[in-house]
Amino acid sequence: MRAAILEEPHGDLKVEEIPVPEPRRGEVLVKVTACGVCHTDLHVIKDETPFPTPAVLGHEITGTIEGLGPGLEERAEELSEGTPVASAFIMPCGECQYCVKGRDDVCERFIAYNRLQGVLYDGETRLHRGDGSPLSMYSMGGFAEYAVVPATDVFVLPEGLPAEESSILGCAVFTAFGAVRHAADLRPGERVAIVAMGGVGSNMVQLARAFGASQVIAVDIQQETLDAAKDLGATDTVNGSEEDAVERVMELTDGEGVDVAFEALGSPETFAQAVGMLRVSGRMVAVGIAPGGSTAPVEIFPLVRKGQRIIGSYGARTRTDMPELLRLVARGFLEPKQMVTQRFSLDEADAAYKALDRGEIVGRAVVVP
Ligand SMILES: NC(=O)c1ccc[n+]([C@@H]2O[C@H](COP(=O)([O-])OP(=O)(O)OC[C@H]3O[C@@H](n4cnc5c(N)ncnc54)[C@H](O)[C@@H]3O)[C@@H](O)[C@H]2O)c1
Ligand SMILES: [Zn+2]
Ligand SMILES: [Zn+2]
Repeated sequence: MRAAILEEPHGDLKVEEIPVPEPRRGEVLVKVTACGVCHTDLHVIKDETPFPTPAVLGHEITGTIEGLGPGLEERAEELSEGTPVASAFIMPCGECQYCVKGRDDVCERFIAYNRLQGVLYDGETRLHRGDGSPLSMYSMGGFAEYAVVPATDVFVLPEGLPAEESSILGCAVFTAFGAVRHAADLRPGERVAIVAMGGVGSNMVQLARAFGASQVIAVDIQQETLDAAKDLGATDTVNGSEEDAVERVMELTDGEGVDVAFEALGSPETFAQAVGMLRVSGRMVAVGIAPGGSTAPVEIFPLVRKGQRIIGSYGARTRTDMPELLRLVARGFLEPKQMVTQRFSLDEADAAYKALDRGEIVGRAVVVP
């Protein structure tokens, strides 16, 4: 099969022919239909997040079932060959102390095995070069024609959902869902600000509306992105390159501030801005990932006196949230088609990340192998 390989940090993604991986016990072989282009892969490419190389990146996919490993007899009918499926970036082990409590978002074995070592739960990768040398898997390694995914992370795509655009459900929408539903625990009528309208932030706009927010203020530094946020349902937009984002959010909320501010970039500056937008007892939900060692300047006294909270949010709870999210999308609360603005071939995966790095992608791009 063809796969886009990152040989080492700061390198280009180059397509190579490698063997089709084989699913082991409890795993599924998926023929990849599309894989979304997320900034987290870019953090790996730029060595802002350490990850073992050579590697196959790509962590939000749709595909069709190609085969099942042993131990999945009970799901054989549901996951018959050719069935369209979606997979999220967190592939829960299902057994650690967090997974047994339903907290797939903080699965400790996912971090220990996949994020730190680029392997699955038996300590080995499923991806190799023709000479047998191992290739790390970032999640399932979606920038390839085939991917092996643990069955805990394989969900049948409801009828009517677009095959390619739905790939963004696995990270951009999934992460936005976790942030809005769990970390923020957003209540109808609340006012929110979302700082950074990339693939993740712009999905929060639709979800915040779906969860009943009365005001959704989109903050970015690019006008085109803000115009797109309006189309997705943002009630107000703030261009941080033209005005003071915190002051403007205060004005838009009659001097009170928002109940929830989401930070979806991962810079010290926007982290502090998001906290500064909060009303008394407001919650700041931190979603953006920053290079290791980054800290943000947050003024302590106002946070204490106003009883505010800062809450981290990583992905969502795969096994319980993916079915819920798929239902929301199937009922039209979210439109993946509206979010996906560009398509790239596997050979163009590298160009896709260079465009993302230059800030040229509105919403989300997908790679179609
Ligand atoms: N917590 C999680 O589970 C999780 C999951 C996926 C992605 N992420 C992280 O979320 C962040 C966003 O990912 P993405 O794929 O949406 O990125 P993206 O590159 O698509 O979007 C980034 C956006 O930030 C905007 N921006 C840049 N500087 C800004 C500023 N000063 N103020 C306001 N906006 C600004 C850009 O114009 C762009 O719209 C990344 O750090 C990514 O690693 C976290
Ligand atoms: Zn992602
Ligand atoms: Zn686990």
